[in-house]
Amino acid sequence: MSQEVGIADIGLIGLAVMGQNLILNMNDHGFVVCAYNRTKEKVTHFLENEAKGTKIVGAYSVQELCMKLKSPRKVMMLVKAGPAVDAFIKDLLEYLEEGDIIIDGGNSHYPDTIRRTKEVNGGKDEDKKDKKDKDVTVKEIFQAISAKVDGEPCCDYVGQDGAGHFVKMVHNGIEYGDMQMICEAYHILKETLGLSADELSDIFTEWNKGELDSYLIEITRDILKFKDTDGSPLVEHIKDTAGQKGTGKWTVVSALDTGSPVTLIGEAVFARCLSAIKSERVQASKILPGPNVKFTGDKKQFIHDVSKALYASKIISYAQGFMLMREAAKENNWKLNYSGIALMWRGGCIIRSVFLGDIKNAYTKNPELENLLFDPFFTKAVSEATPGWRNVVSQAALQGIPAPALSAALAFYDGYRHAVLPANLLQAQRDYFGAHTYQRLDNDAWVHTNWTGRGGNVSSTTYLA
Ligand SMILES: *[C@@H]1O[C@H](CO)[C@@H](O)[C@H](O)[C@H]1NC(C)=O
Ligand SMILES: *[C@@H]1O[C@H](CO)[C@@H](O)[C@H](O)[C@H]1NC(C)=O
Ligand SMILES: *[C@@H]1O[C@H](CO)[C@@H](O)[C@H](O)[C@H]1NC(C)=O
Ligand SMILES: *[C@@H]1O[C@H](CO)[C@@H](O)[C@H](O)[C@H]1NC(C)=O
Repeated sequence: MSQEVGIADIGLIGLAVMGQNLILNMNDHGFVVCAYNRTKEKVTHFLENEAKGTKIVGAYSVQELCMKLKSPRKVMMLVKAGPAVDAFIKDLLEYLEEGDIIIDGGNSHYPDTIRRTKEVNGGKDEDKKDKKDKDVTVKEIFQAISAKVDGEPCCDYVGQDGAGHFVKMVHNGIEYGDMQMICEAYHILKETLGLSADELSDIFTEWNKGELDSYLIEITRDILKFKDTDGSPLVEHIKDTAGQKGTGKWTVVSALDTGSPVTLIGEAVFARCLSAIKSERVQASKILPGPNVKFTGDKKQFIHDVSKALYASKIISYAQGFMLMREAAKENNWKLNYSGIALMWRGGCIIRSVFLGDIKNAYTKNPELENLLFDPFFTKAVSEATPGWRNVVSQAALQGIPAPALSAALAFYDGYRHAVLPANLLQAQRDYFGAHTYQRLDNDAWVHTNWTGRGGNVSSTTYLA
């Protein structure tokens, strides 16, 4: 072990691609980083190659890593989510002192982070002043290396314990939704207008110049143009079964747990599940007939309508995502800064887009904004998009083209703007068969009705049917 003690600004555990890039980025910004990987050869290889000629130092044990850090020590882990994170925390705690900081930069599930924070703090709440100092010391490093939009860093302290991992999870869920919507737009345009991949790429090129300007539209444009070795579009040679790693599912589970109607991301996750049962779909395609309706409208107008369907659905999806964050913040006592979150996502991540700048503006104008759809910019944007959106969803239905995300978004919009929903009938049904009682509109009283004129309060007529 070398004798250099207290020389590095931050330690990084895990030398996979992301870890290496982060270390080099920090080094470029003038920070001294200590690199550690459990596999010793990894450290040596990194020091002798990518890190050669830099100020980066290495460590061959957790003890050496901790010794080389300046106090208060800052250690970031970029290791596989799960037991490895717990194991490293356990190792680190042997050598760290009160006031040192452990950062879990991986895709941990936020309830695990809440649990780990409690464990590391020995069950007590963090000292407020102490925590503020910590935020500042790591903020300096991370904001220096983060992407910037108009000079502002797309990186911020999100909140206590699991808040950071929660917000990252919602980011990934929103990403699922954005990707699904784009796929539906592609599918509808392809089937309705019979467009080639090149023609579709041109449409995405146009879309990327306006309100839909975003990383995912941009890569879709490039993917559609990409040719296989035989000159045909590569995208058409790719098997239509989608994989997933779980963050989309976690977002939906969290939505169900908090009772938040995050319908679009839910449909996006289920669309991946449906795509995965390919052999069953092939069988179904031979058994279940669809309509034989041909599109007869104006092509150019329809392309414009699809862009509007995409834009409006995207607004709904983000509105739903922010509804979920509000609910979770309430349950976990987090103070989330919504304009800060939008700014963080504005650049440097998969869902980065011009549109997030508009969301940031909405929450900057009104940090207490109850729903994104109540911001005048978005109220107007959605309402102007509705004619095209409705046309696309109905065309898809008439022609039998699946559009689960675009249509779920429209159903949510129509449900949300209805002061009266048919849940009155639903409550009556619940009271009829289960005596669950219902609330009267005229005097708010909770009552039960003897609907059948027979039996007791909890007699279940469903069994008599
Ligand atoms: C070590 O590096 C490899 C990448 O080569 C990575 O997959 C692994 O997670 C790292 N492990 C630890 C614990 O540092
Ligand atoms: C929220 O974040 C924005 C953007 O980073 C920042 O300007 C603002 O001061 C933050 N608000 C609070 C209450 O911290
Ligand atoms: C419901 O109404 C019928 C007929 O009037 C009556 O016989 C029965 O006792 C009532 N049940 C209850 C729980 O009030
Ligand atoms: C039936 O339900 C009503 C309302 O909940 C209650 O006031 C009444 O006592 C119940 N009757 C019987 C027979 O349990």
